[in-house]
Amino acid sequence: MTEKVRDQDKTHFGYKDVNPDDKEKLVAGVFHSVADSYDMMNDLMSMGVHRIWKRFTVELSAVRKGHHVLDIAGGTGDLTKQFSRLVGDTGRVVLADINESMLRVGRDRLIDQGIVGNVEYVQANAECLPFPENTFDCITIAFGLRNVTDKDEALRSMCRVLKPGGRLLVLEFSKTNNPLLTKAYDAYSFSLLPFMGKLVAGDSESYRYLAESIRKHPDQETLKAMMKEAGFVNNTYHNMTGGIVALHKGIKP
Ligand SMILES: C[S@@+](CC[C@H](N)C(=O)[O-])C[C@H]1O[C@@H](n2cnc3c(N)ncnc32)[C@H](O)[C@@H]1O
Repeated sequence: MTEKVRDQDKTHFGYKDVNPDDKEKLVAGVFHSVADSYDMMNDLMSMGVHRIWKRFTVELSAVRKGHHVLDIAGGTGDLTKQFSRLVGDTGRVVLADINESMLRVGRDRLIDQGIVGNVEYVQANAECLPFPENTFDCITIAFGLRNVTDKDEALRSMCRVLKPGGRLLVLEFSKTNNPLLTKAYDAYSFSLLPFMGKLVAGDSESYRYLAESIRKHPDQETLKAMMKEAGFVNNTYHNMTGGIVALHKGIKP
């Protein structure tokens, strides 16, 4: 992977301030640790609701037969699987992720489910996507952006490899504006989540990071402004589950 020169002194890893060059390694540690239990934990933690958030993402993507789709930070391939069916034999889906453990689990899982022929697996950092300009009709990044060290760089990189008129969809945890929901959600995230992580994945720290990284992620309006700054137009977002999750959409002009 290419060495990048970082222009920030510090960044966040959950609630900790760390050197930008260390964040990548720390995030890698989290996903190496959780890869094998990731799918089970996803269903448990969200009580299956992540499937509804993802289904809405696929609906809004307007992906159809023959399209080229990049699912960056694609992990174990939930979105890739649905896109593979939609693009058919004449289309292509690239499942890209920085982490080889997540890619391995995703590739094995999709092959086991018979998803073959139009899916490629690429180890890549969202900040410097190894694809030519104007390659994809649609790019998705689901629950990935908050883990990326330089989010602005990643958004610019995504804009570069999208075709003009192509769509970026960012599905990510966001901010609730209901004080009661926020209270319940905080209690759940900081007590129950690490406990479940310990029980199921034998790792409470990674799930504490998950809760902290969500709180540190830019809110809806900030992310919308960042997408505009990176070159996207017609930027909109939809809150889901009271704003616990938001789906952002932007178009490459
Ligand atoms: C929470 S998982 C999401 C996986 C999948 N998209 C989903 O929704 O189930 C976050 C993924 O982001 C990946 N990731 C973290 N930093 C990344 C980066 N800089 N570039 C690409 N992928 C990254 C992790 O390896 C991990 O697989």
